[in-house]
Amino acid sequence: MKTAIVVGGNRGIGLECVKLLIEEKDVQKVVATARNPEKFPKIENGEKLQVEKLNITSEESVLSFAEKMGPSSYDILVLNAGVAPEGNDKSFESIKTTIDVNYFGISSALKSLFPLACEEARIVCLSSVFGLRGMLNLNPNPNVFEGNYVFDYGQKLFSTTLAKTTFDELDIIAKRFIEDQKNPSQAQADGWPSPEQTPMTAYDMSKLLVNNLVRLYGEKAASEGKNVLINSACPGFCDTDMTAGVPCEKPKTARDGAESVLSLCFIAPGRSQPNGKMLIDA
Ligand SMILES: NC(=O)c1ccc[n+]([C@@H]2O[C@H](COP(=O)([O-])OP(=O)(O)OC[C@H]3O[C@@H](n4cnc5c(N)ncnc54)[C@H](OP(=O)(O)O)[C@@H]3O)[C@@H](O)[C@H]2O)c1
Repeated sequence: MKTAIVVGGNRGIGLECVKLLIEEKDVQKVVATARNPEKFPKIENGEKLQVEKLNITSEESVLSFAEKMGPSSYDILVLNAGVAPEGNDKSFESIKTTIDVNYFGISSALKSLFPLACEEARIVCLSSVFGLRGMLNLNPNPNVFEGNYVFDYGQKLFSTTLAKTTFDELDIIAKRFIEDQKNPSQAQADGWPSPEQTPMTAYDMSKLLVNNLVRLYGEKAASEGKNVLINSACPGFCDTDMTAGVPCEKPKTARDGAESVLSLCFIAPGRSQPNGKMLIDA
């Protein structure tokens, strides 16, 4: 019998993952995390549900949650938490928050929770096809090395190249991206995706960084021999609070998005792939 953890499980795609996991016969417990567990919605057949407090941007909160879970504590981990404030707010604070939650928060959660996986565990990080937009805006031709600061690393962010970043380099890229946003001409000189290229520079970068994080953890998982598989998923364009301000009809429900995410949580035991990859439901 399996234990699943859904980080950011109180609304949207995360909540639908929780509900679907509760319906699974071989899942005996679903730990849903929320920043405000007291406001967690009432759900049907909630006997399997355990709600825990977790804010992924607080190191103390992440460490305390990981300690509570303990070693070999999950078979399925869905890292769903994410924000996209740039739709309404292009301020520096909004850009910083996006990278802090979507990249540094997920990275911090993985650092503490990855070692707690059971054998054959399946881990999924919510990403977005916009991470690929970030990748192509950084450098439209991955085979041409342009040689400035961002391209220097940017080339390594391409899944089509053999070069890879290290964990430390991903942090450096994320910090430099934030720092450069204080000064638009520096951001332009360094070659970051510009507001003319994308309405969500930070969101795109945050998901590109997550894809690369997953790539690195995929290698780590393969080298550790526990048959753990970790992948990222773009759930498609889903009707949730995050997309409420986008003035068009959404092709998918939050449940549709959750179904795609969960397909990566039930990869048969003994399989070695997909691992370190991205599934795009778009
Ligand atoms: N909707 C789409 O079309 C779409 C497309 C591609 C990718 N995604 C990705 O899918 C994921 C879920 O999106 P959604 O549309 O379901 O968004 P949502 O409805 O806005 O839900 C976001 C979830 O993330 C949690 N969260 C935010 N900051 C957090 C933090 N610091 N610590 C812990 N939890 C935090 C929220 O908790 P609170 O309630 O406490 O804020 C909420 O549970 C995100 O990673 C998003 O980038 C969504």
